[in-house]
Amino acid sequence: MTHLPKLHSQPWSLTRSTELLQRAVDLVPGTTHSLMKRPEQFCPGRFPVFLARGRGALVEDVDGNEYVDFICGLGATSLGHGHPELRAAVAEAVESGVLHSLPTELEVRAGEALVELVPGAEMVRFFKTGADATSASVRLARARTGRSRIVTIGYNGWHDHFMFDTPGVPEPLGALTTRLPLFQPSDEPRILETVREGADEIALVLLSLPYNRRVDRAFLAELRALCTETGVCLAFDEIVTGFRLALGGAQQHFGIEPDFSCFSKALAAGMPLSAVVGPRRTMAAMAPLQVSTTFGGETLSLAVCERALAIYRSTDYVDRIHQLGRLFREGVESVARDHGSALSVVGYDPLPMLLFHPDREKNAGPGEAFQGEMAARGVLLRRDLNFISGAHTRPQIEHAIEAASDSLRAMKAAGTFA
Ligand SMILES: Cc1ncc(COP(=O)(O)O)c(C=O)c1O
Repeated sequence: MTHLPKLHSQPWSLTRSTELLQRAVDLVPGTTHSLMKRPEQFCPGRFPVFLARGRGALVEDVDGNEYVDFICGLGATSLGHGHPELRAAVAEAVESGVLHSLPTELEVRAGEALVELVPGAEMVRFFKTGADATSASVRLARARTGRSRIVTIGYNGWHDHFMFDTPGVPEPLGALTTRLPLFQPSDEPRILETVREGADEIALVLLSLPYNRRVDRAFLAELRALCTETGVCLAFDEIVTGFRLALGGAQQHFGIEPDFSCFSKALAAGMPLSAVVGPRRTMAAMAPLQVSTTFGGETLSLAVCERALAIYRSTDYVDRIHQLGRLFREGVESVARDHGSALSVVGYDPLPMLLFHPDREKNAGPGEAFQGEMAARGVLLRRDLNFISGAHTRPQIEHAIEAASDSLRAMKAAGTFA
């Protein structure tokens, strides 16, 4: 593969994707195993459905079309595909066995590497998915406090206590969870008020930062102080922000120490691994809890975790994703201005969020049209949150900016402009 996507053959073909989709529709409820990868999340008919392979930040679909990928496996492939050091780590781990009957040294080594990166962390428990880790943090907080209610901010995973208001979850569970938004500064007082008023019953505030704006540190400091005062556990869901806003995540970026926090995605650069991490005073309470998974000590992911953390530490990875993200934001906003488009790029530079309209519903139309136009020009994007990885290059970002300009021009011509 070259550095830039090979231009699609004309006409651009998605034949194989379409064939596979027809098979998947009959096979997989909802067509795929991650909601966020369903065709309707993109631009159906004008967006690939199945990818075949990747190298660095470039991916190739099953029809042989290439793209610069800003979806990055929903934020997990922080170092792109096929990083030589990560491949070597996997190869070595495969040789020694994928899963053993007793713990391995890797559990200790990867854990030590992780607590070294996260401010104040001393202990760690590994899991497989983000929802495993956030659910373990709910269990830990309830056990520590003897209280039952939780306050969740942002998406924390698909399990019952987070998705209490979706079909299939028993209604009584809803009484135990309060989900609050943090999209606007005006949402902040309600969070503080809820914690202040319900403190006697609240075990945990589980906070995942909004991606549409940069939250004010003063709010986080006030929330931290309030939780300390009322004995409520404050946990950061760093599943997206970890190893991105700063090496030690949002907590390091803001200088706020949660009681414990959850990491996944970039934790093992795309391998399935998650963790709950924190100081001994909070984490030790997890020892007697019924929190366990067969695959917690799976060696491939732990080996990649150890290597990936070493790469984050020893290279300019964090600075680089900030710099390239800034280049992306400034470039896309500049071409949007030139075309008179409302498109803006908001949030944190390593997590650029596209926004045609602040209302999610109204953003969907132009967002989808933009996704289709960009895909036709060799760029894969989500219509909202995207990711810059350590594998992206400056020419690839410049390619995306040029594609954005051409896409907005095409949208104007097609009447799908915003
Ligand atoms: C902030 C956040 N928390 C938790 C999760 C759940 O992680 P998983 O899908 O691995 O269970 C996600 C998934 O995207 C997430 O973005």
